[in-house]
Amino acid sequence: MKCKRALESETTYFYHAVFASRFHQLPKLAGSQTLELQNDPAAAAANKGEEPGAEPGLRTPRRRSRVKSLHEMPGPNTLYNLYEFFWKDGFGRIHEIQQKHTQEYGKIFKSHFGPQFVVSIADRDMVAQVLRAEGRAPQRANMESWQEYRDLRGRATGLISAEGEQWLKMRSVLRQKILKPKDVAIYSDGVNEVITDLIKRIHTLRTQEDDGETVTNVNNLFFKYSMEGAIPKWLRPLIPKPWREFCRSWDGLFKFSQIHVDNRLKAIQSQLDQGEVVNGGLLTYLLVSKELTLEEIYANMTEMLLAGVDTTSFTLSWATYLLAKHPEVQQRVYEEIASKLGKEKIPVARDVRKLPLIRAVLKETLRLYPVLPGNGRVTQKDLIVGGYLIPKGTQLALCHYTTSYCEENFSMANEFRPERWLRKDNLDRVDNFGSIPFGYGIRSCIGRRVAELEIHLALIQLLQNFEIKISPKTVPVRAKTHGLLTPGSSINVRFSDRK
Ligand code: HEM
Repeated sequence: MKCKRALESETTYFYHAVFASRFHQLPKLAGSQTLELQNDPAAAAANKGEEPGAEPGLRTPRRRSRVKSLHEMPGPNTLYNLYEFFWKDGFGRIHEIQQKHTQEYGKIFKSHFGPQFVVSIADRDMVAQVLRAEGRAPQRANMESWQEYRDLRGRATGLISAEGEQWLKMRSVLRQKILKPKDVAIYSDGVNEVITDLIKRIHTLRTQEDDGETVTNVNNLFFKYSMEGAIPKWLRPLIPKPWREFCRSWDGLFKFSQIHVDNRLKAIQSQLDQGEVVNGGLLTYLLVSKELTLEEIYANMTEMLLAGVDTTSFTLSWATYLLAKHPEVQQRVYEEIASKLGKEKIPVARDVRKLPLIRAVLKETLRLYPVLPGNGRVTQKDLIVGGYLIPKGTQLALCHYTTSYCEENFSMANEFRPERWLRKDNLDRVDNFGSIPFGYGIRSCIGRRVAELEIHLALIQLLQNFEIKISPKTVPVRAKTHGLLTPGSSINVRFSDRK
């Protein structure tokens, strides 16, 4: 777990890439003035929050309908934003700024960072509308700097950084072995093996360094520079260091992945040479099936490591914290485990189905602490959202943290109440776009089932073995945006043996 920290800063690149780093230029509208439309289906749809082209209502609107332009949209100005982010450490409070701006400007607002422009959406229904209108290859954000690094070093793109047809191809290969719970039940061991190897490698590297600090320092630097990686290209001549560090960080990560992928490849080759059958997890499948090139495999292993390590461990930390603070909830969860599974039985994937409360704990943890407090989408066609015409090519920020804490979406939203997720039928239905911690749709988190399995199994075993309690050292822990939504201070809890 400790060594996972060494990757923390890279994960921040992922977050900033999807949400905060590269916003598009303000798209050009046909005219900057308000659009006045009469009896126009798009305008009628706008009044109801639908997208253009949606089936118009039965009744033709009688009064003049009006679709507003982006110029009319409220939002903080550039100077205020720069002040808030660079002067008042806004990067550490992105989730709170989301809420504050929603209160000040409403559930849809625009922001400028110099020439960069983003429309933020903090409304459950509008988020649903945007995600349901997605095409076959949604774009999360402009990944220019990721692509530039890869071009510079002759590297392939992985799933996070790929776009269009290239993304579609990779997604269709990778999804085969990772997207469904039953795939994960079989292959998660393989994925974990690779991650464990990589983490061990970081540990070894760190202890081998004379000063014993190098990885730690790099980690700190990674974080710092991932923040600064948000500096756009036009500022690079003035501030060159972040880009250099950005490249250096990626060099290290790719090297890690390459070492371990190559080792696995050698092992497979020697098994084949000896006429043995090769079994294994996702990596083995990718290497044997040859559906992706070796470079693409390096890129995907690197990006999965980025996206998968800290997201999972932070969520586990928050869940532990919440359970310690709510002993009555913990007791109910434990009783369910003890009665439906047993006090000592080591759980496997299929056991999780019998334990709706443990799944509800994870859902509620991710509602209160969504590791990615916001997500991004670049509109692929003109949309009318919340009464505004949003042209194709606009960077949207979907404010999941704000919608998670909205009373309209979740009553007693500030409270940890896992039971709210218990339903008669399917627990996994995405019918509340107020909390979609793994995203939604075709571009949603591909590692969701891996993460869920890891967290469910870990929590079950923790609760079978320990009563998790607060200790005199437990202090209230606030969330901090550190790329991801992280605990702002250390979580200290007691693990008392269960009698
Ligand atoms: C608690 C754990 C996790 C959370 C909350 C989480 C959340 C997310 C979110 C919100 C996205 C963006 C989805 C969208 O744009 O609609 C995403 C994408 C992604 N995640 Fe996760 N994730 C977690 C764990 C993992 C793990 C364990 C892996 C790898 C094994 C992983 C790999 C990825 C990848 C590769 C993408 C990019 C998918 C694409 O662009 O097609 N994630 N994740």
